[in-house]
Amino acid sequence: MGLFITPNLLDMLKLMNADENKSKRLVSLMKKRGFIQPAFELYGGVAGLYDYGPLGGRLRRNVISKWINHWISLGNIVEIDSPTITPEPVLKASGHIGAFNDYASECKFCSSIYRSDHLLEEVHNNPDSLDNLSLDEELSKHKIPCPSCKKSGWLPSEPLNLMFSTTIGASKGGRRAYMRPETAQGMFLQYPSIYRHFRGKLPFGAVQVGKGYRNEISPRQGMIRLREFNMAELEYFIDPQKDIDYNLNSWDHIELKLVPDPINGEIKELKCTIYDAVENKIIRDKTVGWFMIKTFELMIELGINSDLIRFRQHETDEMAHYATDCWDLEIFGSYGWIECVGIANRGCYDLEAHQKVSKTNDLKAWRDYENELEIDKIICSPVQSIIGPHFKGKSKLISNHLETLDALEIKFPYSTTIDGEEITIEENMVEIKEVKSIERGEWFTPHVVEPAFGIDRIIWHILEHSYTEISKENDDYYTILALKNKICPIDFSVYPLFEKDGLDEMAKKIIFSIRDIKGINVNYDGTKSIGRRYARGDEIGVPYAITVDHQTLEDNTVTLRERDSQEQKRMHIEDLLKFISQY
Ligand code: GLY
Repeated sequence: MGLFITPNLLDMLKLMNADENKSKRLVSLMKKRGFIQPAFELYGGVAGLYDYGPLGGRLRRNVISKWINHWISLGNIVEIDSPTITPEPVLKASGHIGAFNDYASECKFCSSIYRSDHLLEEVHNNPDSLDNLSLDEELSKHKIPCPSCKKSGWLPSEPLNLMFSTTIGASKGGRRAYMRPETAQGMFLQYPSIYRHFRGKLPFGAVQVGKGYRNEISPRQGMIRLREFNMAELEYFIDPQKDIDYNLNSWDHIELKLVPDPINGEIKELKCTIYDAVENKIIRDKTVGWFMIKTFELMIELGINSDLIRFRQHETDEMAHYATDCWDLEIFGSYGWIECVGIANRGCYDLEAHQKVSKTNDLKAWRDYENELEIDKIICSPVQSIIGPHFKGKSKLISNHLETLDALEIKFPYSTTIDGEEITIEENMVEIKEVKSIERGEWFTPHVVEPAFGIDRIIWHILEHSYTEISKENDDYYTILALKNKICPIDFSVYPLFEKDGLDEMAKKIIFSIRDIKGINVNYDGTKSIGRRYARGDEIGVPYAITVDHQTLEDNTVTLRERDSQEQKRMHIEDLLKFISQY
């Protein structure tokens, strides 16, 4: 483990081989070739909303599939799906209604509104961690000008909730709801079903990929800050008292760049293995450490440059309301270091909150004691002669529930929800008894570690790190999008040298054979010169081009051209199909 000096911005940009206009050229290529572009442009566009086009849609799907498979293949993780429209009580319980805010400042002169911390980005290291009074103080101390009217003077910053609200049912008398700000809550509410699926054996997890919504105050930075975005989250449920061996030393060949929570305001970057970081308590929680290294692996597989990844620990004031520790995976690109994944220890915050508000006890897990205990216990013993006739089919469930309650704490009438129905227990329905009992274990609320991914931000950086300008003629750049195999939208392109003499039919025949190979996306391009077609394939990241020429008609051979090396090999169609089936 050792300290290393923070590379400055210029060095980092050189690592990306970038000049200041490179990302602009990438943006225009993305639009021209149908990857990504601002949505609703015909109507003037809406800030923070983007479309994925014909190639971007496929790229997005490939990234998501890779993401899902990476986690599902661990064996104890399942995929679930839940609605994006979320009733108000869920988000009250989760704390989003009270705490999911950004501070906004209004210009005294032109009334433009901006996120207060964004106004301070040039003058403060981590403005996101400041409270409202400090934000106001900094704005005035640095005489920050309004980006619209350029005058300097701000009204006191105000918290603005970031959720989009809606109504379920007829607006009058309908139920208030919000578009979900994270997919996580759906997984917490499905916890009982996931617990049953894994037969109560922790640790286990669930993933969910889908849209999340945040009504950002002043979105900018293209794909980085969206109002509707693609989220991919994993909730991993653990017993906090159980030590899990994650075999962290099997990643000793990888050194991660870490930026721990600054001590006395001093920011230090260090490089170390995940094993050392956990052993030396730089990362407090082993499960968080394990997800950090698994996430790092995934980023490399997706095509992110490993030198442009770091993990930054949240400062205490910066942490989300539910988290006790959080490390962001940040990726460096033309917007600087950008948070693309947050790996948070949410403790038992969410499960406890939902149990409290929904007055249920269902979000628990069972833990066996090492040795059975004999204890004297005061219990609520159900009076079956009253409970039976009163609750009929539900009486068994209700009796079981009563036996889990602390008889010294309970107050009557006692209300709870059992099997989706609110029930009330009167004092005469139970007998408070002292009994000797053998305790084999206990119910507890699991803790949750959550890696949460911003898919759009990751896609943007995959594109930036893959985009390479090889040469320039006048204002025309020859570019290669060096996307990883299986991430790229098109795997193979087939080009007849000319669209005549039967070359086009032969090319189409080859395409049909390739299409028989599962999961391969192949396309045909017959227009313009072969050089132009190679260039068109290279700029959208097609890894291999197959060219059909007159010799193909004679001996069934084609040329296979590799995108990154631009090397060409002549091979028999049979060998080509073998190569593709192993792709
Ligand atoms: N669930 C993590 C987030 O909302 O960012």
